[in-house]
Amino acid sequence: TVIGVDLGTSAVKVLLVAQSGETLATASADYPLAQPQPGYSEQNPEDWIRGVKTALQKLHQQPDVDFSQVAGLSFSGQMHGLVLLSAAMRPLRPAILWNDTRTTAEVEQIKQKMGDDFIAITRNRALEGFTLPKLLWVQKHEPENFAAAKVFLLPKDYVRYRMTGQLGLDYSDAAGTVMLDESTRQWSTTILQTFGIPASMCPPLVEATACVGTLIADFAAAVGLPQTVKVFAGGADNACGAVGAGVLNADQLMVSIGTSGVVSTFEPDPTTTYHGQLHYFDHVVPGQHYSMGVTLAAGHSLNWFKHTFAADEDFTSLVASAATSKPGANGLLFTPYLVGERTPYADAKIRGSFIGIDSRQTRADFVRAVLEGITFSFRDLLGLYQASGRQFASAITIGGGAQSPLWLQIQADILNLKIVSLATNQGPGLGAAMIAAVGLGWFADFKACAANFVQVAATYEPDPTAVRNYDQYYQLYHQVYGATASLT
Ligand code: XUL
Repeated sequence: TVIGVDLGTSAVKVLLVAQSGETLATASADYPLAQPQPGYSEQNPEDWIRGVKTALQKLHQQPDVDFSQVAGLSFSGQMHGLVLLSAAMRPLRPAILWNDTRTTAEVEQIKQKMGDDFIAITRNRALEGFTLPKLLWVQKHEPENFAAAKVFLLPKDYVRYRMTGQLGLDYSDAAGTVMLDESTRQWSTTILQTFGIPASMCPPLVEATACVGTLIADFAAAVGLPQTVKVFAGGADNACGAVGAGVLNADQLMVSIGTSGVVSTFEPDPTTTYHGQLHYFDHVVPGQHYSMGVTLAAGHSLNWFKHTFAADEDFTSLVASAATSKPGANGLLFTPYLVGERTPYADAKIRGSFIGIDSRQTRADFVRAVLEGITFSFRDLLGLYQASGRQFASAITIGGGAQSPLWLQIQADILNLKIVSLATNQGPGLGAAMIAAVGLGWFADFKACAANFVQVAATYEPDPTAVRNYDQYYQLYHQVYGATASLT
């Protein structure tokens, strides 16, 4: 068996998976998120260690779980978070997370100093969420911490360091620091020199499937795992989510609907560029890449709606109620910019809207408008791909948005693509387990592994009439950003 450790933003989830691909058991443990000032988002790295230990102990205690059979373990990690370690290898300050937005000035500084050269080196533009702006923030606002920092790590790499004593950072997460030179796959000397970051602060780079070592005795004893368990580097949650959904071909799109929404695809051609409009990162599949765009408030929009207008109703019946409305929500249009928008606008200030409110509308129309508005934002992302000549045969949908047949059909009709839902919804944790399975040599590659680990549950074909109607509503949706930007 193998273990996938999915180090998320609110909790860590661990999965025990058999060589057949069957998930045998899961467990999780929560940890807090601190927002000491508006826009700040921090976590105590020690809470991750406690969480991982608790989750593994809970897994161990379940009936029929035999830890003596565990051969490998790997990770999926929340991306971009900055962990700064002292010479004694202790965190110097709380980790600054991917959803922390304090770094607008540093993003501006990067743009001014490097302009388009930055995109040419990293394939990405600098955004508040990424790691480099966070390092520059510490350099400016906490010079004593910056001076005392021996090395930086990303969240899962810190956890792995504590489990194995070995330092390393895998390419998929290194890409999300925006300090990696994509042409050489080394830390970019230009970026390090331009911003005064000592090269010694950058950890050694490893492939996601590389075995970094085995468990240190104390950790193994604390969780009941054999010390011989091979630990593989693992990767960024979005890359792990993609392999966990079997998205390993250029004609497959992935739609992942959690708090935020991600539309991503496999990038077999290393020369592809989206000029920074979509993120372009190294994959956990060695030597490969994937690209992605992010809707910041996907599930978050629905959560907000439920919390504000339907607190007593459960999600399933609330979402199902949208069936009593019809495509176009009887004239109601929603834009999901509740916390700003990342792709395609990179605009932290824009806010959402309901347009076309009519006294005949019901709450069901509002629910439907929210589902449709979130899905229109995915159509914006699909449009970026289509504008650069990409075509897709299907989209695999994972996360909360894959739970409702109605929403899956809405996705098929708005995106005009066959939508595929999966039999299990284990997400990035399954991808992490697959990294261990491939790393152990159980499978020749990720495609062979996916053939065993990933199973399709259902497919949804676009309905031509709904596609035509939605196409018109989408043209309206697309105008709302420009028309409301000056209001916020
Ligand atoms: C991707 C991003 C988020 C995090 C969540 O760029 O910021 O999706 O990966 O952990």
